[in-house]
Amino acid sequence: MRTSRPGGFATSWLLVALLSVSHVTTASAETGYDAWLRYAPLDPAARDRYASLPRQIVLLGESPVLRTARDEVVRGLTSMLGAPVTAAVTRGRDPVVLLGVLPRVRDVLKDAAIPTQIGADGFWLGTLATRQGAIVVVAGGSERGVLYGAFALLRRIGAHEDVTRLNVREEPSAPIRWINHWDNLDGTIERGYAGRSIFFEGGRVVDDLTRVRDYARLLASIGINALTINNVNANPQVLTDAFVPQLARVADIIRPWGIALSISIDFSSPRRIGGLDIFDPLDSRVAAFWQDRVDAIYRAVPDFAGFVLKADSEGRLGPSAYGRTHADAANVIARALAPHRGVIFYRGFVYDHLMDWRNPKNDRARAASDNFRPLDGLFEPNVVLQIKHGPIDFQVREPASPLFGALQKTNQAIELQITQEYLGQQRHVCFIAPMWKEVLDFDMQARDGGTPVKQLVTGRVFVRSLGGFVGVSNVGRETNWLGHDLAMANLYAFGRLAWNPDTTSRQIAEEWTKLTFNDRPQVVETIVGILLDSWPAYERYTGPLGAGTLTDIIGVHYGPGIESSERNGWGQWHRANGTGIGMDRTTATGTGFVAQYSTPVATSYENLATTPDELLLFFHHVPYSHRLRSGKTVIQHIYDTHYQGAEDAAGFVTRWRTLAGSIDAERHASVLARLEYQASHAIVWRDAITAWFRWVSGIPDTAGRVGNYPGRIEAESMSLDRFSNGAVIPWETASAGLAALCSAGGTCTARHRYQGAAGTYDIAVQYFDESDGTATFTIAVGDRQIDRWVADAQFGSGAPNGHTSTRRTIRAVRLSPGDEIRIEVNATAPDSGALDYIEITPAR
Ligand code: GCU
Repeated sequence: MRTSRPGGFATSWLLVALLSVSHVTTASAETGYDAWLRYAPLDPAARDRYASLPRQIVLLGESPVLRTARDEVVRGLTSMLGAPVTAAVTRGRDPVVLLGVLPRVRDVLKDAAIPTQIGADGFWLGTLATRQGAIVVVAGGSERGVLYGAFALLRRIGAHEDVTRLNVREEPSAPIRWINHWDNLDGTIERGYAGRSIFFEGGRVVDDLTRVRDYARLLASIGINALTINNVNANPQVLTDAFVPQLARVADIIRPWGIALSISIDFSSPRRIGGLDIFDPLDSRVAAFWQDRVDAIYRAVPDFAGFVLKADSEGRLGPSAYGRTHADAANVIARALAPHRGVIFYRGFVYDHLMDWRNPKNDRARAASDNFRPLDGLFEPNVVLQIKHGPIDFQVREPASPLFGALQKTNQAIELQITQEYLGQQRHVCFIAPMWKEVLDFDMQARDGGTPVKQLVTGRVFVRSLGGFVGVSNVGRETNWLGHDLAMANLYAFGRLAWNPDTTSRQIAEEWTKLTFNDRPQVVETIVGILLDSWPAYERYTGPLGAGTLTDIIGVHYGPGIESSERNGWGQWHRANGTGIGMDRTTATGTGFVAQYSTPVATSYENLATTPDELLLFFHHVPYSHRLRSGKTVIQHIYDTHYQGAEDAAGFVTRWRTLAGSIDAERHASVLARLEYQASHAIVWRDAITAWFRWVSGIPDTAGRVGNYPGRIEAESMSLDRFSNGAVIPWETASAGLAALCSAGGTCTARHRYQGAAGTYDIAVQYFDESDGTATFTIAVGDRQIDRWVADAQFGSGAPNGHTSTRRTIRAVRLSPGDEIRIEVNATAPDSGALDYIEITPAR
């Protein structure tokens, strides 16, 4: 603790003038909208701990960001302390919370023990004893630093930490802490799972930017300093004169939160909107085009942050059209930005999606390093290479991209995906911090002495002035931003890790839980437990041993679709065949990818014995009989982990139920519904993957589970009226490969005569909830209707498959031998109201 002697303060601020900024706490339903910034009123015991906290907030200086900091402290303290907290322009007799940039604070508190230096965007929080009592100081290394310090103070109180002896100095790990959005101007979001864009609609920026402002507040609270609002698959219209004023509107809204605007651009813009017939980066007319557009933006948005560019990737045009390099492309735009201090993020996600899959030497994982390593040192100083964390594409398990260790003279930033494209799309809980941490902490051994990825991307190892973190967030218009209340832990974790990548996943999860729900030990233990177990569980039932997420990679990247990654040019191959599985990426016999790592890392991945099991199939092709360190064969591991993963998901439901009454009913119910869905979809994954590998390998499950489903009655074998049997594609996503399809325009009926023992059972109905229409399901036992529901969910597919396969469980149903179980379906075309099976199991 540092304290200063009373006295010695400038006496000019004697009068206290109370400003009108104050907030009244009102109890309202928990919608998730406020996320971790709820500022829930403290209970009386906790409130007593903050009795001595000043109730007057004094701001030194004046600017939008500083005012935001001050108003946030007023808002947060008022709400948490349940007592009026006011903003004052000068200091009177009472203790205050004092906010300001460091030089101003030091001016006022001349003799106080305050750091003499704080890095840009950093802050110092201190408690100082004065004649008036203990004052709290929030000193920033910049105005943003003041804002971050304000949020840090509120975070501590929100998590019920002691603030009576503050002496905390924090600086962010890196200057780049950006969020990217993949929002399209028409209001849709590429890989967004929580409603339409908060930025765009109908080709323009939305009129009401309230949500954008509130989103900026959330982002500021975790230290984000720039926001790219449109899709990397960019629409060139964003650069037009007509659009620039709209960009300025967004910039104005987010600026008070210390967040600068950025946009993604289309490399062929000179041709598409610039009236040129060319976009060659070495052509002077093209350079002039970029300069003109950049200047126009800066006239409207003086603090514009810069561009993100995806070129020569997935069909986007790039410099290869003219035989130019990525450095040529980045630099022509960088030079236009440089006078304005803008930066360009050039995406390292460049690969050939039409690669010949028959060639065993071809490998998409090689692409980033093959493309960019030779260009190291050729980029302008304001170019940042934005590199996805793994060499493929946000799979459930990938090694760190070798490019992080290969670039020594180029700025780099790591791209992490917050939106759960391959990780359950926010319908499944999957807390990604532990996965990010594995990559960030991985030692690339790029030179002696330890070079973890986090130190490479923050520019520490090769002394780069620019570096850091980019998160693809894709929040949408759903009230709770990401659709799943627990998914917000990922957005929070991204910001906290970008600020300090040494923070542990547990610390982040605990902090987030306390702020988002409450700090009751049982609540914290349960939610943190579920969060920390969620990525391992998801990995268990989706993508074994580094083979990749075994999803439908051609479509929506959601449910299982094992063969979709094979025999096409996309390069997400796992090469599973009748005898074995895995990509041989070794130098000796494979694609040579491992040689892109430093020698010590390459040596360990080259060798089967030293490759960690969880990445085995990423680096090696092995027979199903290959024994893992656990002693299990690969095939038995696949079976066991899928059963284990589905059990884990079921366990989340049980664990979450214990929170009834300990957290608000609204979010308890909405998360419970998602977890129940997840548990049922985990069964779809389990069954699809185990059935497929059982078939392809011909090796049975030693535990006898695969292909043997007690209590299951296939729809095809029920007595059917107006239903017809149909094949489901891919076959493994329906039990026995078939479903009963209902033709629209009437009621389809499936009947089963129960012949088991009398008792109480759960009846699970497995059906397909297509996005292309609705289907109404009714289930009855004899004359008794036991459930009725409408299948109208949007899983992004209009066919029966692994995305749409859904389970509804009717619990505790009395059954006697001879009872007729009857399912009726009414579908609106083209929905096929498809039914897969029912499963009758003793009530749980
Ligand atoms: C993935 C994703 C695309 C996205 C691309 C990118 O492939 O599926 O939707 O455009 O990444 O990051 O550019």
